[in-house]
Amino acid sequence: MTRIFELSELIRTDNFIGGRWVPAADGARFAVTDPATDELIAQVADSGAADARAATDAAAAALPAWRETLPKTRAEILRRWHALIVANQDVLGALISREQGKPLAEGRGEVAYGASYVAWFAEEATRIYGDLIPQQQRGKRMSAVKEPIGIVAAITPWNFPLAMIARKIAPALAAGCTVVGKPAEDTPLTASALVMLAHEAGVPAGVLNLITTSRERAVPAVADWLHDARVRKITFTGSTAVGKYLARESADTLKKLSLELGGNAPFIVFDDADLEAAVAGLMVSKFRNGGQTCVCPNRVYVQSGVFERFAALLGERVSALKVGPASDERSQIGPMINARAVDKIARHVDDALTRGARIVTGGKRLTELGSHYYAPTVLADADPSMQLYCEETFGPVVPLFRFETESEAVQAANATPYGLAAYFYSNDIKRIERVSGALEAGIVGINEGALSSEAAPFGGIKESGYGREGSKYGLDDYLSIKYLCQGNLQ
Ligand code: SIN
Repeated sequence: MTRIFELSELIRTDNFIGGRWVPAADGARFAVTDPATDELIAQVADSGAADARAATDAAAAALPAWRETLPKTRAEILRRWHALIVANQDVLGALISREQGKPLAEGRGEVAYGASYVAWFAEEATRIYGDLIPQQQRGKRMSAVKEPIGIVAAITPWNFPLAMIARKIAPALAAGCTVVGKPAEDTPLTASALVMLAHEAGVPAGVLNLITTSRERAVPAVADWLHDARVRKITFTGSTAVGKYLARESADTLKKLSLELGGNAPFIVFDDADLEAAVAGLMVSKFRNGGQTCVCPNRVYVQSGVFERFAALLGERVSALKVGPASDERSQIGPMINARAVDKIARHVDDALTRGARIVTGGKRLTELGSHYYAPTVLADADPSMQLYCEETFGPVVPLFRFETESEAVQAANATPYGLAAYFYSNDIKRIERVSGALEAGIVGINEGALSSEAAPFGGIKESGYGREGSKYGLDDYLSIKYLCQGNLQ
């Protein structure tokens, strides 16, 4: 029988190391607060280098047995974990909403999304094939086998506190790796709950370890993993600046890295597009998690012939969005994660307005709701001199840029160091072929705003990072290839 937990049973405030919940070695703690109200939710372990080292020790001790576990046994454990996550969808969804602020329906949706990666990699665990290489010489057999890479350090963001850690841990466990993890300081509780369910599902002690840290102590804790040669892989979702730091600092031990970094996604609407569909696609892609998603469109390019109509249609839809606390089932946009996030949004909008942008809707803080709310905003007449052109706003703001020609739009879309997602709407089949080839991004949405799926490869190019998560490619990041050459067979 799959057990259903109460919220209080899922809230864990200690580190999980070697199968036990333990406080930080020096007893330090930091506060986790509700972004809607700033209320204290819990005081959790504030870990340092000693705790990171203890987690690695546990992962190293568990590795020899786990990597020898039969793939079908690992698959069974992952399936049980999946069943527990799904059975506890409501309570996990509520926990996500509480500590991260996304509306309840989105919190529940994230649980299903995260669980889909666990189900996917339960299946993939049993499909780690190698190759028998066509014979080159009589009496010699050459083959390639795939082996778990070793200990994986998973460092995850606050914007999808369950889905991002699930899509890193599930392939690592499926591949036969052991894991040390660190969730973002804003949202450690969901990750700890997920790890608790993994333990309940039968993941053996030491195979999965989690430490929590405050922003201040994250660097010394993570640095211990970066410099420890036993940790063979880092998987990280977060900012490009931190991704570069991880790559630099881990260089001495030449670890394999998967980096899912910043976006700045373009969204292009051509004159020949179905405008209703383009508006609907933009609403889905832009306002998911209040605009706090790496694949959210950050720059919307609209061809001049349809610019005003598109701006008006979009303005109508955006001004109807209901903003409020996650706890209110009617809310479609919740609070932003913290005060820094709201300040950045306000700075981007103010800068755009002083440089000539025009408000179609929104453009202000919603202080009557609390200190972390910003009105869903559409700005027309945006241009490249504005801060929101080159920096990710990571909030509910849509700047509309006008363009004349296809090549101008493609050039502008690619004029960024980032290359995670890009979107365009057009009904011209030849243009679809040209533009999908020309856009510099790891993920391209063509007449579609909802791109994420456990069955699809998620990841970027350029300064948006490397590596792919999900899909049939997602396991490769956790495996290394060993070439076996057997001689004297005749
Ligand atoms: C992200 O924002 O990093 C992930 C979004 C997704 O998986 O769709």
